[in-house]
Amino acid sequence: MSRIPRPATSGPSRARRGPAALSALVVGTALAVVPAAPANADAGCAVDYTVDDWGSGFTANVEITNLGDAVDGWTLDWSFPGNQQVTNLWNGTHTQSGADVSVSDAGYNAAIATDGSVSFGFNASYSGSNAAPLAFELNGVLCDGAVDPDPDPDPDPDPDPDPDPDPDPSGRVDNPYVGADVYVNPVWSANAAAEPGGDAVADEPTGVWLDRIGAIEGNDSPTTGDMGLRDHLDEALEQAGGDPLVFQVVIYNLPGRDCAALASNGELGPDEIDRYKNEYIDPIADILADYEDTELRIVATIEIDSLPNLVTNVSGRPTATPECDEMLANGNYIEGVGYALATLGAVDNVYNYVDAGHHGWIGWDDNFGPSAQLFYQAANAAGATPDDVHGFIANTANYSALKEDHFSVDQTIGGVPVRQSDWVDWNRYVDELGFAQALRQELVSQGFSSDIGMLIDTSRNGWGGPDRPTGPGPETDVNAYVDGGRYDRRVNPGNWCNQAGAGLGERPQTAPEPGIDAYVWMKPPGESDGSSEFIDNDEGKGFDRMCDPTYEGNVRNGNSMSGALPDAPVAGHWFSAQFQELLDNAYPPLD
Ligand code: GLC
Repeated sequence: MSRIPRPATSGPSRARRGPAALSALVVGTALAVVPAAPANADAGCAVDYTVDDWGSGFTANVEITNLGDAVDGWTLDWSFPGNQQVTNLWNGTHTQSGADVSVSDAGYNAAIATDGSVSFGFNASYSGSNAAPLAFELNGVLCDGAVDPDPDPDPDPDPDPDPDPDPDPSGRVDNPYVGADVYVNPVWSANAAAEPGGDAVADEPTGVWLDRIGAIEGNDSPTTGDMGLRDHLDEALEQAGGDPLVFQVVIYNLPGRDCAALASNGELGPDEIDRYKNEYIDPIADILADYEDTELRIVATIEIDSLPNLVTNVSGRPTATPECDEMLANGNYIEGVGYALATLGAVDNVYNYVDAGHHGWIGWDDNFGPSAQLFYQAANAAGATPDDVHGFIANTANYSALKEDHFSVDQTIGGVPVRQSDWVDWNRYVDELGFAQALRQELVSQGFSSDIGMLIDTSRNGWGGPDRPTGPGPETDVNAYVDGGRYDRRVNPGNWCNQAGAGLGERPQTAPEPGIDAYVWMKPPGESDGSSEFIDNDEGKGFDRMCDPTYEGNVRNGNSMSGALPDAPVAGHWFSAQFQELLDNAYPPLD
């Protein structure tokens, strides 16, 4: 069991470090406390129990916050006051005997740091009343929001008596975008400028995708052209002209890449973790190290779409794929992400941002907390520590709207909650800003620094043009209300490939909202998400029918039409027709 460092001040102040946890529903405060924790450990917990009740059954979300010393392995016990019966449970294993329920961790969420949280959920049936349990016990200790003091307090003197936080020895700033310009990729810029009307955006900064080993040196690929990483960095120094400049690079080459789809499968097989480390991450880190003492701030976005796949697309879920099961079982996504964080994070001017999916993927309760836990696990794998993570990026290469103004999850239309609409489908979030800000809080509660910041990719989530709603939908029923008012005009929020009707989103900008370091265009607009029919290629890319406009869908998009544009080239290749539509439907509109 790894012991996490104590706070600079020890003792009762620890409980005060978790105000969010303490404000959560705390039950059973009147009951006696039975200390049953390991010797020499502070123990304490709080439980937040929330239900969605439909009269004869309910879905519960249970969040455990550990207020004591870190635990590795947990069991939560309670008794139902009525005849509630758990029918299925996720992110844990359970037994029920009469009213008594016992839930143990699912393995991957066994560790809970001090002030960290884990969540699980379940469906249950009942008749009569559905009162909440009166008390919960974590590993035999009542969860009443208090901390049982360590019976033998650690006699070691505080090694760092200075109560002020240590400055980051790397010299990293809190938000790298503040006071800095952002690199304009000349390869993308030339493609954009060659399009009619493209001049309007050709000077915008976009991400440089290192989507295969060959891209490091430059391989004449449509994405990187003839510029390798070193060429880009030299050009970046020119653009910087002596002032701070953010250089956005996308690290995207995991073994078994894109395990739930085919369009962006990569060159490395599921087991080629050594090649990933030795031939991909190490050479990138070596090159970046040569630019360590420059005015460049390297924003490295780490492995798009990888970790959330291990939560949502694995066995136990109807959305499972054998490829994601394999990547969960062999551990190479976690190992690869951890290695990238540790190796790139050792370069002083690198700012790592881990990909965090988007609200239409991990916004549901059964995906949200578990994804944050998995990110924390990856941030502690392969030599990485959470200090190697500067933040997270949401919506990379996706189309989820930044803000939906005309409906919210708190509303009810004709007695039916908005969450019950077909579009929202019980998601907890309806847009990327709300999702990213809430996920930031969740990540901090899992153990990440409270200084982490979020990026949101707004490259293609504008949804402007003549079809953009100007007000809420009619209140005739909840679906008419949501569908009439939503900006995001996809057929289903699970659609991801070359979406028809999309426009450029907010132009890149710094610190636009609390908790958000920047809006960025990480996906270069105009580069395809995948071919609409099979096209032979030497990049390892497959053909995913989600990119075929005639495809009627699968369980991952609610069996909906794909909503993809026709005649698309291979992922990453220039797609002129899409670029034109993105210009036409830009929101905010182009000048
Ligand atoms: C897709 C492609 C990749 C490309 C990236 C940016 O993920 O698979 O090759 O670099 O998009 O356009």
